[in-house]
Amino acid sequence: MKMFLDSAKTDEIKRAIEMWDIDGVTTNPRHVQGSGKPLLAVIEEIAELVAGTDKPVSVEVDPHLTDWEKIVAAGLELAGISPNFVIKVGAGEPGFRAVRELTAQGVRANATLIFSVSQAWHAARAGAAYISPFLGWKEQHGDAADSLVREVAAMLASYDYPSQIIAAAIRNSRQIAEAALAGAHCVTAAMAVYRDSFHNPYTNMGERIFQNAWDATPKP
Ligand code: E4P
Repeated sequence: MKMFLDSAKTDEIKRAIEMWDIDGVTTNPRHVQGSGKPLLAVIEEIAELVAGTDKPVSVEVDPHLTDWEKIVAAGLELAGISPNFVIKVGAGEPGFRAVRELTAQGVRANATLIFSVSQAWHAARAGAAYISPFLGWKEQHGDAADSLVREVAAMLASYDYPSQIIAAAIRNSRQIAEAALAGAHCVTAAMAVYRDSFHNPYTNMGERIFQNAWDATPKP
């Protein structure tokens, strides 16, 4: 399962590339806002960080757009900035139409805000390179999230759709595990979630036990 960083903070992305060799980056308007920089400036900086690699960077078009042709125009403009850019388009009739056109023009699209198998199916039919079910948002509202990933994965496999699932809005290590076991191709999470996922209290306990044993053993 590929590991994407969900962030538009360049210092975080740089560190995640260096320490974890992340496979790609996903951004959204909230992350861009959180970077404290103007959209164009921040995405150009991210483009520079991944230049010369095959790491995809999902960049979202203006979420106000409801006309598919305008979504396509905005997507093409963003895609012109970097070959790494994957255009993030909100699920919905105009969004899926735009995904179809972007794909036809050789631009990869990420269908975002996916909450049902039928939305994922529309995205796959339209040729989306990536499909992003938002696990954390679903769970927050009391719905099981891993079953959505499992069902979308089964649907894609049944019909040989090449779209990849990005398990998105991941809030904790358990959701990372659930995404992997449910057949997600990629997971995207914030830096804090990944940092937490390296740790386990039993590992800390075990380290202390072994350190004590080490110290109590005569050397050499
Ligand atoms: C995914 O591509 C989205 O950017 C992300 O996971 C959305 O979730 P969040 O901003 O609530 O974490």
